[in-house]
Amino acid sequence: MRNRFLLSVCLVFFAFPIALAAQGTSLTIHVDQPVATVSPTLYGLMTEAINHSYDGGLYAELVSDRAIGHGFGALFHWNMVARGDSAVNLSVDETTGPSAALPRSLKVDVTAATAAAPAGVENDGFWGIAVRPHTIYSGSFYAKTDSPGVPVTVSLENDATGEVAASATVTGLTGTWQQHTYTLTTGDVPVTSNNHLILTVPRPATVWFNLISLFPPTYDGRVHGNRIGLMDLLAAMRPKFLRFPGGNYLEGRSIAERFDWKKTIGPWVDRPTHMSPWGYRSSDGMGLLEFLEWCQDLHMQPVLAVYAGYSLDHEHVNPGPGLEPYVQDVLDEIQYVTGAAETKWGAERVKDGHPEPFPLHYVEIGNEDEFDRSGSYDARFAQFYRALKAKYPEIQLIATAPVKSVTPDVLDEHFYMSAEEAFAQAHHYDSASRNGPKIFVGEWATREGDPTPNLEAALADAAWLTGLERNSDLVIMASYAPLFVNVSPGAMQWAPDLIGYNALTSYGSPSYWVQQMFSTYLGTQVVSTDLAGAAPRVFESVTRNPSVQRLYIKIVNATSETQPILIRLFGTGKMMPAATLISLSGRTPNATNSIADPRAVVPVERRIQIAGPKFQWSFAPYSVSVLDVSY
Ligand code: AHR
Repeated sequence: MRNRFLLSVCLVFFAFPIALAAQGTSLTIHVDQPVATVSPTLYGLMTEAINHSYDGGLYAELVSDRAIGHGFGALFHWNMVARGDSAVNLSVDETTGPSAALPRSLKVDVTAATAAAPAGVENDGFWGIAVRPHTIYSGSFYAKTDSPGVPVTVSLENDATGEVAASATVTGLTGTWQQHTYTLTTGDVPVTSNNHLILTVPRPATVWFNLISLFPPTYDGRVHGNRIGLMDLLAAMRPKFLRFPGGNYLEGRSIAERFDWKKTIGPWVDRPTHMSPWGYRSSDGMGLLEFLEWCQDLHMQPVLAVYAGYSLDHEHVNPGPGLEPYVQDVLDEIQYVTGAAETKWGAERVKDGHPEPFPLHYVEIGNEDEFDRSGSYDARFAQFYRALKAKYPEIQLIATAPVKSVTPDVLDEHFYMSAEEAFAQAHHYDSASRNGPKIFVGEWATREGDPTPNLEAALADAAWLTGLERNSDLVIMASYAPLFVNVSPGAMQWAPDLIGYNALTSYGSPSYWVQQMFSTYLGTQVVSTDLAGAAPRVFESVTRNPSVQRLYIKIVNATSETQPILIRLFGTGKMMPAATLISLSGRTPNATNSIADPRAVVPVERRIQIAGPKFQWSFAPYSVSVLDVSY
């Protein structure tokens, strides 16, 4: 939980088509002089369970606290339903549950009920449950009863109107734990999010429940998959990799609460769930395999962060024999991801429903291990490095802090900045050594805006990104953090976050759109440029893709003045007289997007005329622009 830099600035942008009088600023571009190769993996995603990123976020489960956990808050989202003269008691029963991993249950003890006045339990979802018309919802629960044959009616009911959007009755409950499935199909109902899931019985009975679940349609129809709107936003970013599962979420508050991957695979009933360091319990429905399938669905390569023996309470495992089980655990994890069906852990993956191995080129050892005050990271990293390289020499190993005993392939550096700092750091890597490990900027953000970054932050982000792009021979990967925030009251632990949502809808922040622009309009080579006479807070990055003869000129004007820039292209053939201008703008530096106004600041695209290899363009105050030029 680090805040390395801090900043602030302003921005807003209007794409001014009118060429203003030159004030001496020129950008000279030698199109035929590539100076660096753009990393094909430059732009990706970093993710962890923070701000209800998965439960109450990307993971499409609609029921909160579906696994009945232990201790305080176990029934926080479960309330009794007693219609008419019916009566019911709810409690957590620690003596019976569907499995060894989930040894407890929700005991629904109905003492009076009729068909006209049923009783049972309801769940309020994650700040509501979204209901849409003509939609099929897939549900299941584990249950047993003292009254075999008692029917359970499951329904989606609107809090304000009491209207039942969909309902189904589950029969076949017995005295032993069994999983039951149901389907809820809505008709011509309005789109709402103020709904509850309600389970009732029509006569006195005791029913024990666990893992009560309900899913809407998911992205690509994946069973128990991800929320469609959020996946669409991610897909538009064209991310090349996903760093998971953290972040602090990997480390846990203590060693016992680390992301223990073996407890996140297989049927839900075998996943015990765990406390995340961000103050809420994780269902672990988003387990190791689900992260990998997320990568598969968006064609991203996994950057697998593995637990390395250090947790947030500064507990650490000493290098040497004590660390060996953790090293073996990582070898097992890599085998689960990449192994053939004949291997022990590859066979587990097949059993879990994924016969094909996943590609794996990057493994990150730990997270932010410079905070380990014992100084043990150097030796811990070396122990992992030797064991992993011996078995998987081709996998690139990422260190989270500088180490000396061995040379990591890649070093992960994090930057949380104010806008001022982001502008100042835009040239951070220009003169960095090329003799050490490659750099992965595994977490970065300009911290302006709450819950999501405003236009000011987006300008600073764009300035920072020009620096990463120009230096992407060294900086091979970069990912903003945190990625997600549920903006409902009380759901957020960290601001700002790239993408916001509630139970019903979602939006990309101005910073999201900057990244979408940078990643969409990216060449394969950085070309030689010279920006002369520019005001402070004007930034550039130019890349080309020779295979399609396209040039992408990115200009950030973070000043309050229009900036006329004379653009001079050398080394081009015959040029097209038109180019595409993609620009991001807003009326004030505080302009931002929100649930209520999700598209206040979004890029606008249009065709413009250019005079030839030498042309002037006026870049509006507080603007981020891409000129997409065919040469
Ligand atoms: O992004 C939020 C947190 O910041 C991450 O979990 C951690 O790695 C960093 O300190």
